[in-house]
Amino acid sequence: MLIQDARFLTSNARAQDCPAPTLPEYAFIGRSNVGKSSLINMLTNQKGLAKTSSQPGKTQLINHFLINEDWYLVDLPGYGYAKISKDARAKWARMINYYLRQRPNLTCVMVLLDSRHAPQALDLEFMEQLGTEGIPFVMVFTKADKQSGSRTSQQVVQYLEKMRETWDELPRHFVTSAEDKTGRDELLGFVAETNRQLAEAQQAEDGTPGA
Ligand code: GTP
Ligand code: MG
Repeated sequence: MLIQDARFLTSNARAQDCPAPTLPEYAFIGRSNVGKSSLINMLTNQKGLAKTSSQPGKTQLINHFLINEDWYLVDLPGYGYAKISKDARAKWARMINYYLRQRPNLTCVMVLLDSRHAPQALDLEFMEQLGTEGIPFVMVFTKADKQSGSRTSQQVVQYLEKMRETWDELPRHFVTSAEDKTGRDELLGFVAETNRQLAEAQQAEDGTPGA
């Protein structure tokens, strides 16, 4: 998929204030500092589009980006940030849970996982929750440039083995690097294909033949 146009729309604390749910929506979530905002910039080829920081906890709100006037990319605040207060954590959980349940156009959640780390309870639990609620998601391993390709492959295999303990069918996964653009074509290809299937399903429902 070619990104012809990518622009920031709005930041919101409440899901009900987000843009009208008229377009397919892909949301990036994962631990603070895992590379969500960097991956959005990599996919859109715009370095400063989503705010990034070496300090965890940079993204605090639900940020909508409009891509090719056709779909939304959403940057969400990360979880698992150690220095956050109990109150702030509860607020995060309310905001995210409400967002995940209340966006009828949420097409797929992209769960970002640092490719250097062994599976961690917080991430596994978050994916369990998505599964329980029937929210479609894929796994996106980040920062692959920080280690050798063979090390990344090993880590991914280890992660998938862990997932197999609880999942009958594994979600799709992608290996990425915001630094060297690994995985960009694959991820954008996935979005293009998913959007195409959605449009087809919509046409079938409307009874209108494809143009
Ligand atoms: P929060 O908004 O705090 O939840 O973080 P985030 O997940 O949006 O992470 P962000 O994109 O701000 O990146 C965190 C740090 O990791 C920054 O210093 C980035 O430059 C770095 N980083 C992100 N992705 C990559 C990558 O693929 N390779 C390398 N080498 N560094 C990366
Ligand atoms: Mg961020």
